[in-house]
Amino acid sequence: MSKLPVVVLISGGGTNLQAIIDAAKENLPVEIKAVISNKANAYGLERARRADIPVAILEHRQFSDRESFDAALAGLIDSYQPQLVLLAGFMRILTPGFVRHYHGRMLNIHPSLLPDFQGLHTHQRALEAEVKKHGASIHFVTEELDGGPIIVQASVPVLPGDDAETLAARVLEKEHIIYPLAVRWFAQGRLSLNDRDQIVLDGKVLDTPVQLEQIPA
Ligand code: GRF
Repeated sequence: MSKLPVVVLISGGGTNLQAIIDAAKENLPVEIKAVISNKANAYGLERARRADIPVAILEHRQFSDRESFDAALAGLIDSYQPQLVLLAGFMRILTPGFVRHYHGRMLNIHPSLLPDFQGLHTHQRALEAEVKKHGASIHFVTEELDGGPIIVQASVPVLPGDDAETLAARVLEKEHIIYPLAVRWFAQGRLSLNDRDQIVLDGKVLDTPVQLEQIPA
């Protein structure tokens, strides 16, 4: 199968990037054309370099406003001609024009069971809300922050004695499973967004997100 060209955007440690790099070394049919970071010291850049993937740094601080940063970012991304853009811990709010440009071909990972806990500090907020179940979601990116159609989710229990760190670690393990999974579906041509912004998976409109736990092993 031919490999889908992708570009990955990061701001930090890049463990989700690593999960995709590792899966691509196995049998995930993607070629990571570039990893782009808005932070020069993001450890994920090191992971990319180690895997011989081109890296680029575009620091938002060097731009006077969001529009000019996003325009430069889109230009940079498009120079690699990706068919899919992956936000993997990319900590920037994107402008509507940017999001529209990648409509149906940009995914994000969010560390909560969306629509719960959009935005930041999801693990701490889940603990404070005393939920019993927490998790992670992969969604198409639309103009609503963390509000795009959800493809797949994975849950973890919140355990007595958890703090934000232990809970984050438990969720992160699941992130590393569901991101490569959603990317695989997209790369295989099984996953798309229709003109009503509904997810189509294997030819059927998805009414509710796929739950990892319900996928037969
Ligand atoms: C992950 O929890 C991701 O869901 C969130 O930021 C974290 C990034 O982790 N948006 P990493 O950089 O992939 O290790």
